[in-house]
Amino acid sequence: MPDKVQRVKGVNDILPVEARQWQVLEAVIQKVMNRYAYGEIRPPIFEKTELFARGVGEDTDIVSKEMYSFSDLGGSSLTLRPELTAGVVRSYIQNNLQQISPVQKLWYEGPMFRQERPQKGRYRQFWQFGAEAIGSPNPEQDVEMIALFYAILKELGITDSVTLKINSVGDTESRTAYRSALQDYLKPHLSELSETSQARFESNPLRILDSKAPQDKELVKDAPKIRECLNEASANHYDQVLSMLKDLKIPYTQDDLLVRGLDYYTHTIFEFTSDALGAQDAICGGGRYNDLVKELGGNDVPAIGWASGIERLLLVVEAIKPMNTDPVLDLYLVVLGDELRIKAPQLVRDWRDQGLSCDADALRRSMKAQMREANRQGARFVAILGEDEFSQGVVQLKNFESGEQETVAFDQVAKTVLNSLSERSEES
Ligand code: HAM
Repeated sequence: MPDKVQRVKGVNDILPVEARQWQVLEAVIQKVMNRYAYGEIRPPIFEKTELFARGVGEDTDIVSKEMYSFSDLGGSSLTLRPELTAGVVRSYIQNNLQQISPVQKLWYEGPMFRQERPQKGRYRQFWQFGAEAIGSPNPEQDVEMIALFYAILKELGITDSVTLKINSVGDTESRTAYRSALQDYLKPHLSELSETSQARFESNPLRILDSKAPQDKELVKDAPKIRECLNEASANHYDQVLSMLKDLKIPYTQDDLLVRGLDYYTHTIFEFTSDALGAQDAICGGGRYNDLVKELGGNDVPAIGWASGIERLLLVVEAIKPMNTDPVLDLYLVVLGDELRIKAPQLVRDWRDQGLSCDADALRRSMKAQMREANRQGARFVAILGEDEFSQGVVQLKNFESGEQETVAFDQVAKTVLNSLSERSEES
């Protein structure tokens, strides 16, 4: 026998039972995005490698170790997107979206690719949905962004199991001041730091704050706080964000050690985490990126956004408030006698056209096996068709829940089932 081809390490098959959860989540996302007046954008799955090198940052883990890059026939280096902020900003600049309106509020959903070490909640192909608001420098835009994700959590009924961690990395002036303060503090202890943190001491000392190495954690505990280095404008912005979050009753924890793994952030940064997950506990991350549009060749336009990992969010939903993903079918047609089988396609087609979700057997199985299949598919009704029924143009329509059975003409079946289902949903 030929070998079976296995899927690539760190990627998932989303099978129909799970896909039903995805569809419920996607319906929630679309509803909330509409309420918040965000328009959907669908940028390409691959971009020029340069976009991520310039956008996300050469020294970040994502760009330096995790990208799936390849050369195309023309020799250009292309990369499967590891995230979508850079792609959205590229698209915003290239399509002159600023001309349509001074604030562009955009959302997206799709697969991302990072060559990380796979573990629970961390994959090499994973899905994100996210939102970006490009155009406003003001704190009310930060708060709307956070409220948007919070509204999705609320719809899913999991706000209690999630923590919002927030911090500010300020503007360039504040960050430069903090960088020096942190380096001055760490310098005498340089040799005690982990190897990774020693390497980051010059290139990106702020990342030392979120090191997982115990010796780094110990040192960082008493390090100066970035909050203390914010200049007046940055501190004001941050204070206003926190005060509006209080007004909106969105609980948060100020986390002085929160930094993000992408280079583009300025001012407000935040993550939503959940203890229902293991080590990979972040279900959403984001922040302001006031310099990115300019750095990628656009005008000097401020922006803020976040992205959330769908697989991780669904792990939390599954642990806290599992969705009902039992299959449901309005009607299953059970045919008795092989000569009648060829009549099934037309009958189910007509009922489907009239709005029923409807199925019939194509394996020519026994009545018992067809009833079992109807049950497996969660059919609300079965229509039984024998020779006598066929000659009279009727079926025996059986309500699976109540056990009631009645004789119904072919052209009345869909109406009868739909009426009964709508009465039932009104009662519940
Ligand atoms: P990020 O923190 O790299 O930010 O990713 C956002 C979320 O994607 C994470 O909180 C996590 O839920 C999910 N995620 C990341 N990597 C993986 C993985 N390997 N497997 C499963 N899930 C993962 C960004 O991507 C930024 N673009 C967010 C942003 C938008 N900032 C501003 N606008």
